[in-house]
Amino acid sequence: MTKLFKTHIKGFDKELGGGIPEGHIILIAGTPGTMKSSLSYYFLYNNVMAQNARGLYLSFEQSKKSLIFQMSRMGLDKDLGDGLKIVDLSRIRSVASDYKGKNWFNIIKKHLELLHNKYQFNILVIDSLPVLEILSLMDEKRTKLFQFFEWLRKLNLTTLIINEVSADPNILRDEDFLADGIIHLTLERVGDIDIFRRIRCVKLRGMDHNTSIFTIEYKDKLFKITPAL
Ligand SMILES: Nc1ncnc2c1ncn2[C@@H]1O[C@H](COP(=O)(O)OP(=O)(O)OP(=O)(O)O)[C@@H](O)[C@H]1O
Ligand SMILES: [Mg+2]
Repeated sequence: MTKLFKTHIKGFDKELGGGIPEGHIILIAGTPGTMKSSLSYYFLYNNVMAQNARGLYLSFEQSKKSLIFQMSRMGLDKDLGDGLKIVDLSRIRSVASDYKGKNWFNIIKKHLELLHNKYQFNILVIDSLPVLEILSLMDEKRTKLFQFFEWLRKLNLTTLIINEVSADPNILRDEDFLADGIIHLTLERVGDIDIFRRIRCVKLRGMDHNTSIFTIEYKDKLFKITPAL
C-alpha cells in the first residue's frame, strides 16, 4: 500500500483520506501572504519530527535567514540537523541573465541530484514555481514542466511546489493539469472587516478527498481547520 504523509493540519488529513500519497507532486497555490511557505515548511518540519521523512526546502524566494526567523517566530524552532535542510537559492535570480538560453530545469535537476545524494531527503518543497519558469525562459513550458515532474516522480520524491496564483479561479494553468494534487489557500473577506484564511483541496489523485472549503488558522504551533460557515 502507498505510504501517506500526513499534513499534520488538525482535521485536514481526515478530509484528504489520510494524507498525501508518497511520490505525489502537490501545488500549494495562493496569493501573497496566504501562508504558503509557512504551511509547506510545517509539512516538512512535522514529518521530519515524526521521524518518517527527511526534508529539503529549496528557496528561490526568501533567504534562509528570513525563513528561519519566520519559522522560529511560529514556534517551529527545533534544529532538526541534516533531517531538514534549507537550501537558499534566492540569489540565483540576480545572476539569471548570465545564464540566458541555458536550460534551467537541467541546472536545478543537477543541483537537486547532488543534494539528494548528500542528504537523502524524500520530501521536498520548492518555493516557488514562478521563479523556475522565469529561469527557464518560458518556452515549451508544458513539456519542460512535464519532464521535470517525471524526473521528480522517478526519484520518488513527495514534493510540494509553491505557486503564486491570482485569485481568479477560472484561469487554467499547465501545472494544474500536470500536478497530482492542488491545495489552494485564500484570504477571504467576510462582512466589512473580517478576513478569514481558507484552505481547499482542489484535487488529489487516487484519494477520495473532500473538496470543500475550510477555515484554517495557526495557533500554538498547530494549523487547524474548522468548517467554513
Ligand atoms: N505566528 C503566527 N501565527 C499566525 N499567523 C502568522 C504568524 N506569523 C505570521 N503569520 C501570518 O503569516 C503570513 C506570512 O506567511 P507566509 O510567508 O508563509 O505566506 P506566503 O503565502 O508564503 O507569502 P508570500 O506570497 O509573501 O511568499 C503573515 O503575513 C502573517 O499574516
Ligand atoms: Mg512565501
